[in-house]
Amino acid sequence: MTITRLAEMMKAGEPIAMITAYDFPSAEVVEEAGVDVVLVGDSAANCVLGYDTTVPVGMDEMTILAKAVRRGLKTPLLVGDLPFGSYEGSDELAIASAQRLVKEAGCAAVKLEGGGASVERAEAIIRAGIPVMGHVGLTPQTATALGGMKAQGRTAEKAVKVADDALALERAGCFAIVIEAVPEAVAGMIVAKLDTPTIGIGAGNATAGQVLVLHDLAGINHGHLAKFVKRYSDVRGEMLRGVEGYVAEVRSGGFPGPEHVYSVDPSELDGLRRRLDEGDLESNYSWDWEPLP
Ligand code: KIV
Repeated sequence: MTITRLAEMMKAGEPIAMITAYDFPSAEVVEEAGVDVVLVGDSAANCVLGYDTTVPVGMDEMTILAKAVRRGLKTPLLVGDLPFGSYEGSDELAIASAQRLVKEAGCAAVKLEGGGASVERAEAIIRAGIPVMGHVGLTPQTATALGGMKAQGRTAEKAVKVADDALALERAGCFAIVIEAVPEAVAGMIVAKLDTPTIGIGAGNATAGQVLVLHDLAGINHGHLAKFVKRYSDVRGEMLRGVEGYVAEVRSGGFPGPEHVYSVDPSELDGLRRRLDEGDLESNYSWDWEPLP
């Protein structure tokens, strides 16, 4: 998948399927399922690292996760999320962080959140030769300043701000823009003003594509789910059933069964028994050997 192809898909009205992934086996699954774009999202903070928000995750963690995803992917475009604190401070910091995700992890592009100063950072990264995906509406890294993890752009004034951010990111040269948690009708109006492919999450059907967090859609996590999430499977339930079955069989002696053990030629076993009984070992441990029964 290429950035050019994404623009062609938008023009042809072919919906773009984007998803997050944070490790090698998930990358293999999303590759096989045929997704177009894979984001190593900073949602890894909640989904795989156990943080309460996306704020604490750092560049070292994101780089390790992105490297693992890279090893499992061939076809989709791989986008690495710039975590909170890795780009806001200066253009130099933003470029250095983006370069790490490209050079060390093999990402094709990076994503950053918000308008304002983020637009300048996006422009700087693009000037340095790295494609950037923007992200407007609900931006979890700065959710506290937005009044919490809730829908954005629900008044004309607030919707204008989302539109402004999106248009500024387009002017900066972003190849795609994520629109998160915005009313469908508002997203539709913003999309109509943009030439750039938009990827919606909780933004309805007007965007050129959709993105969901893998752990939400596959049912790997549990707890509160945002209104816009659809669960397509119950991986956690299936894993739990598997692990409970294993624990029960270990305790009952049902595992391992005869099909899970290795065999050995009886004459070799006799030889082993003899040598153990005689203490005939290559190591120079010395203790009193009790013959085996
Ligand atoms: O980190 C993430 O998973 C994201 C997506 C929700 C777009 O930013």
